[in-house]
Amino acid sequence: MRTLRPTLIGAALLGAALLGAVVTAAPARAQEETEPSVNWSFSGLFGTFDRAAAQRGFQIYNQVCSNCHSLRQAYYRDLIGIGLSAQQVKDLAASKRFPALTEDGQPTDRPGLPSDHFRDPFPNELAARAANGGGLPPDLSVIVKAREGGPDYVYGILTGFIDAPAGFKLMPGLNYNKYFPGHQIAMPQPLRDATVTYIDGTSNALDQEARDVVTFLTYIANPELEERHRMGVKVVLFLLFLTGLSYAVKRKLWANVHH
Ligand code: HEC
Repeated sequence: MRTLRPTLIGAALLGAALLGAVVTAAPARAQEETEPSVNWSFSGLFGTFDRAAAQRGFQIYNQVCSNCHSLRQAYYRDLIGIGLSAQQVKDLAASKRFPALTEDGQPTDRPGLPSDHFRDPFPNELAARAANGGGLPPDLSVIVKAREGGPDYVYGILTGFIDAPAGFKLMPGLNYNKYFPGHQIAMPQPLRDATVTYIDGTSNALDQEARDVVTFLTYIANPELEERHRMGVKVVLFLLFLTGLSYAVKRKLWANVHH
């Protein structure tokens, strides 16, 4: 029984450490060409979304990425979570047209609603490939989770377009990207300096645009992230409290035992 104290404390500390690791969920990654590691507002145990960055990122998705990429898991009303007003969301949704049927069954279209999913740029995969030289733009709803490297990887792709090194055989229609596996990507470079103009006067250098759209995509993939972080902190505090309590109880129980 002499090992009781170290075992208990060890288990509680291990539990706390494990939970800390789970709630921060930063996937490790080892690869030949590693993308830059960005200091995100949302990473770490206390991370939160920079609302202004996420709103600028939505502007980029809306003006640029949505021409090719769907975001099927997102609803227009989700934008309230990054600080848009209900009226702004309503107006935005209403500015999109969705396929619908008339009363006598003829195809027509209707304005979108806050409860609609983000509209797909293409009616089907064939059309998407045909418009992209055979490449398929993936749905971006969970792209920051689906790829090893997460937000850093997506940031790397957006900032990784360079001229192919001398001697590199680039297939026709493909583009060279430092961080894309194999380096040949079907996406033409979507962002450059000043691709968009921000109404809040923030710099529209490529680096800033890439950070903003990744912040937005991370919000869409993890709308519950801030809640999860708050929960994680509570759990760790509670485990520390339990550790202290079990130690105190153990001292009390063994106080009068003579060895
Ligand atoms: C002109 C169409 C087009 C635009 C605009 C575009 N993309 Fe793409 N994107 C593609 C295509 C096509 C692919 C598939 C590339 C491949 O598989 O080679 C792709 C792939 C990607 C990938 C996946 C890379 C991987 O690991 O599979 C990411 C991330 C991405 N795009 C993000 C964006 C973001 C963010 C924007 C907006 C800033 C954007 N794209 C704008 C066409 C586009």
